[in-house]
Formats: sequence, structure tokens, C-alpha cells
Amino acid sequence: MPEPDPSTAQPTEPAQPARPARPERFTAPIGTRDVLSPESERRRALVQRFADAAELAGYRHLATPMFEDLGVFTRVGASTDVVTKEMYEFTDKGGRAMALRPELTASVCRAFTEHRPAVLPWKVWYSGPQFRYEKPQKGRYRQFDQVGLETLGSEDPDLDTEAIALAWRFFRGLGLRRLRLLVNSLGEAAERAAYVDALAAYLSNHLGDLSEQAATTLQRNPLRVLDSKRSEDQPIIAGAPQLSSFLGLASVTHFERVLAGLDALGIEAEVSPKLVRGLDYYRRTTFEFATEALDSSQNALGGGGRYDGLVEALGGPPTAGVGFAIGVDRTLLACDAEGVFDAPTTALDCFVVDTTGSLYGFEIAEALRRAGVATDRSWAGELTEAGLGRPRSMKAQMKAADRSGAQVAVLIGPDELEAGAATLRPLRGGPDRSETPQRQVPLDQLVAAVLAELGR
Ligand code: HAM
Repeated sequence: MPEPDPSTAQPTEPAQPARPARPERFTAPIGTRDVLSPESERRRALVQRFADAAELAGYRHLATPMFEDLGVFTRVGASTDVVTKEMYEFTDKGGRAMALRPELTASVCRAFTEHRPAVLPWKVWYSGPQFRYEKPQKGRYRQFDQVGLETLGSEDPDLDTEAIALAWRFFRGLGLRRLRLLVNSLGEAAERAAYVDALAAYLSNHLGDLSEQAATTLQRNPLRVLDSKRSEDQPIIAGAPQLSSFLGLASVTHFERVLAGLDALGIEAEVSPKLVRGLDYYRRTTFEFATEALDSSQNALGGGGRYDGLVEALGGPPTAGVGFAIGVDRTLLACDAEGVFDAPTTALDCFVVDTTGSLYGFEIAEALRRAGVATDRSWAGELTEAGLGRPRSMKAQMKAADRSGAQVAVLIGPDELEAGAATLRPLRGGPDRSETPQRQVPLDQLVAAVLAELGR
């Protein structure tokens, strides 16, 4: 390359130091949220409550994948919005059509078909996130948590009652009072189909009077027209054929047994002939738990029903099934609205303050944790030239100890190091604690002394 001729070269501006490009900032995707402490602990406590209730009634935990072959969900129903409009579908790198699960009942039936459990009925409970591409709003998210349970392999109506009663007890145990239980029977497959035909014919005759939205819904799923909240649809809905007149003797007997069971358990149920629910697979019993503490757009805290026939649709043997799912996010919103089920307290027990830079404080913290004492400690503010952590000042560490909410501090300075001891300082002086001044304790008695200080 020829050298530039200095006589013709233009003076150039001094080069500006290149400003490092600011990295792109991300937020959680629309319709999803990060759940931070203490709300995250509250969620975990809620799931634990549900697990306890389910296991007390003989349900065992089942964990299934968060994504399945797309077909697992499309079999659930071609006229279900959850499947046709809201599913997170994708093709994996092997070219397989997959979907993030929008609900868990189909996955449970797929697992049942795959593993063919020897002992029936198969009673399982589950918890975890579901994914639906919905229009996000309060109480309606694109990723939301459910807890739920399913029983496969028995037509016994008392299992319907057991499931409803378990959910009811769970909600009441959280402290929720403004709760309504709605129940209905959709009849067996042929009865439901005959009703849907009659309803479709009736609604088609009144097409001109229906709202535009209901007219569109009619093409996809006539039953869902009954859910319409629009005022212009109400007179048409009021005059529609009643599902109850399409039920055969076996369906009526089944439903009456469920109602009698709920009555025997002292659970007040409202029979709601228009309760059809959003998923296609329901047969016979359906139910929903509605709260009066939230707006009607998000007042369903949970729901379920019978889905005899779903296992067959997934390639399994004819198998009866019943279950429900509860929306964790909405249940917690209802708890907020009723002022019940607070977040558990997660305060620390003990904070170790160590100004020596030795490993002494670390060992003490580990010993306390092994004894079940919730312990944290201060960490190096910066590294020394040798690459070791330089301890923060006593003042800074004590500030961190106070902020941590711990009840007791264990202090280690050069004197303690020398004496093979630690100083125990009560931080939250209750009426009896204020009597106990800080004191030096030999190392081998420290764990016992901290436990005594905590009243354990
Ligand atoms: P589901 O009615 O679609 O039923 O959902 C159950 C509950 O999940 C709802 O009552 C609601 O609390 C919550 N939920 C649904 N969608 C959202 C959302 N986008 N954001 C927040 N919460 C939501 C089922 O999923 C069936 N698998 C229930 C079942 C089990 N049926 C028989 N077995």
C-alpha cells in the first residue's frame, strides 16, 4: 500500500474515544412476571398447603414435562380457545411440532396412557406453570401457576365430590370466605352432543339478534355462547334449550349423588345450568370456584370436572377421569382482597460479624446452619492485592446485621480469635432479652448458646 503524500493529507479531527455501546436491557416478557421474596415464599407455602391436603387424601405427586407433542393438546378439543388460539406452539430442532403446556389434564392423561398404572383409581396431584397466549391483565397472564389433581380409572361420583370437597377445604383453609361453588352436569358424550346440536339450531334461528361476538362464537363452539356477558345476548340465552332436559337417567343419578355428597359434607353448591367451562373434554360433572372479591373477568379461582373419554382420545384404554386445577396467581389475588394468607416470615436467626478476615466466621456460620439456625454473614467489600477478601469495618457489618432482621449477632474480632471464643449479642431486645447483655462464649458452647438465645 503506498504511503499517503504528507503534503496533500487533510488534518483529521483527533479521534474520539469510542463510547462503549450500552448493552440492551431486557424485562420479563409481556404477560409474565418475576416473583420476588416474600411473595415467592408465599407461593411456595400455598403449594405446600395444597400438597398436604392432596396427600392427606391419598393423591401422589406427578411431575410431567412443561412441553409435549402438539397432538397431546390438540386432541383436547378443536373448538377450545385455549388450544386453537392461545397455545405456544413451536417446532423443535428435530422438526417435531411441540407446544408449551396450556394446562395439565391432557399431560396427565398422556402419562397415564404411557405408564398404565397397575392400581386404579390413579390419584395424582401436580403444580407448576402453564402457558397461554392471552391478552394480559390483572389475574390473567401468559405464564401462570396452577395446582390441581386428577383421578383416573373410576366413574364413582363420590370421587367428584371428594375432589370438590378437597378444593373447598383448601380455599377455606387459606382463609377465603367470599367464595361460591358452582356445579353443573353436561351429561354423557351423546347427551352433550344432542344438546349442542339443539342449542346450535336454536341460536342459528336467532342469529340476527345475537351480538357479533356471540355469532362468531356460535360457529366455533355453541356452548360458549352461554358464557356471553353482553346484554343483547341475554334474552336469547334465557330462552335457549336447557341442558338438564337432555340428561339421561345415569347422568341424572350421577349428578344427584354428587349433590347429595356435597350436602352431606356441609358444602353449599349452586347448580348453575350455564356452567359449561372453557375446555371441550368435560362430561357429566363440571364445577367452578368463583370469588366475589375480584372482578368478574378474573373471578374464577379454579375449576374442573369429569372428562371420561379423554384418555381414549390420547390412544389409551377407555378410562374415566375427574379433577380440577386452581389458579395460584388468582387465588393469591383473592387472598390479598380478603386480607388473608400473609407471606410467611423468613427472617434470619443469626448474623455472623467477623472483622478478622480469617475463616473462623465462615466455620461458625456453617456450624450454626448445620444446627438449623438460619444464618448469614457479611462478605468482603473488596479484594486485597493478594486476592483475598478485606473484611468490612465493624460498623458496616453491624449495620448489615441489623438490616438482615436477625435476632442474634455473633461477633468475632482479634480478641475472640485469640481466646477461641465468640461474642454473642442479642439484636432484637424483647422484654426478657434486654436483660441478657452481650457475652463471650467459648466456641464449643456457641451453637447451644445461640439456640438458647433463640428460645429453642
Ligand atoms: P381452566 O379453567 O382453564 O381449567 O384453568 C383453571 C384455573 O387456572 C382458572 O380457574 C384460573 O384460576 C387459572 N387460569 C387460567 N388461565 C389463566 C391465566 N391466563 N392467568 C392466570 N390464571 C389462569 C384447566 O386448566 C383444567 N385443566 C382444569 C381441570 C383439571 N379439569 C379437569 N381436571
